[in-house]
Amino acid sequence: MAISSNDKYLLNNGVEMPVIGFGVYKIENELMNDTIHAALNAGYRHFDTAAFYQNEQELGKALSESDVSREELFITSKVWNDDLGYEATLKAFDKSLQNLRTDYLDLYLIHWPVEGKYTDAWKALEKLYEEEKVRAIGVSNFHKQHLEDIFEACRIKPMVDQLEYHPQLAQKEMKAFCEDNNIQLEAWAPLGRGRYFDDPVIHNLANKYDKTPAQVILRWDIQKEVSTIPKSITPERIQQNIDIFDFELTQQDVTMIDQLDQDNRLGKNPDNFSFD
Ligand SMILES: NC(=O)c1ccc[n+]([C@@H]2O[C@H](COP(=O)([O-])OP(=O)(O)OC[C@H]3O[C@@H](n4cnc5c(N)ncnc54)[C@H](OP(=O)(O)O)[C@@H]3O)[C@@H](O)[C@H]2O)c1
Repeated sequence: MAISSNDKYLLNNGVEMPVIGFGVYKIENELMNDTIHAALNAGYRHFDTAAFYQNEQELGKALSESDVSREELFITSKVWNDDLGYEATLKAFDKSLQNLRTDYLDLYLIHWPVEGKYTDAWKALEKLYEEEKVRAIGVSNFHKQHLEDIFEACRIKPMVDQLEYHPQLAQKEMKAFCEDNNIQLEAWAPLGRGRYFDDPVIHNLANKYDKTPAQVILRWDIQKEVSTIPKSITPERIQQNIDIFDFELTQQDVTMIDQLDQDNRLGKNPDNFSFD
């Protein structure tokens, strides 16, 4: 059980990944510098971006100008759909490295499982991993059948699967599948973009522990052993979202949140999403 924001999950290749990170999707470029500095000051060391977010450069600038050393940071980026393919993915990775002002990434993910393209992209990730340009490789929005394709065609198993995960989408099947295959589940949109804060179960638990609904949800992630990457541009919320290590939900509380699952997605379903 994680007891501090410095706690890590051990990935299947022995690399340690901080249990909580900071997501930067849709943070406008002009807000990036102040927001990243607020996140560093609050104690985040794990940052989640993607080529698609078009803010890798701003993240790289803010991190490289901070007092925090590169070794203390855990930086994730993702290859976008247009760049899936062996050569294209290698090229996209180099561009991300350049944007992020670093000579290695901690985690590189395939953003979406575009039919017919992801096994070649995975082979590129294997090469990058073997060349030690990235400490861990993984996928995002991959369901069982996509992961099984990777297992069949490739040599290295993904270390992480980043999926939409929040109280109304608890990913029971994928969570069990990832556990059986020693793949770390990471939650995107962990706060459900604020949609579930008024749910009576979440609300009552927030009152019970004198915490906010957001803190209750993020604590649930940690107690489910899911890595979580909330996004905020608001300094108090940035701090609040990492202050989740001074209380513990009971097993009964966790079960009550588990029961809110309605298989309700905010994003696309990877099983029937057109990538055109
Ligand atoms: N792999 C993928 O396909 C994928 C897809 C989507 C997202 N992601 C990653 O996951 C990260 C998080 O997901 P997300 O940004 O979509 O959604 P999220 O973290 O669930 O929610 C962010 C929203 O919640 C608000 N918020 C944050 N903390 C709050 C608090 N304590 N109290 C009240 N409201 C709060 C934020 O508002 P303010 O910012 O205004 O404070 C923002 O509107 C992304 O940034 C990205 O890194 C990955």
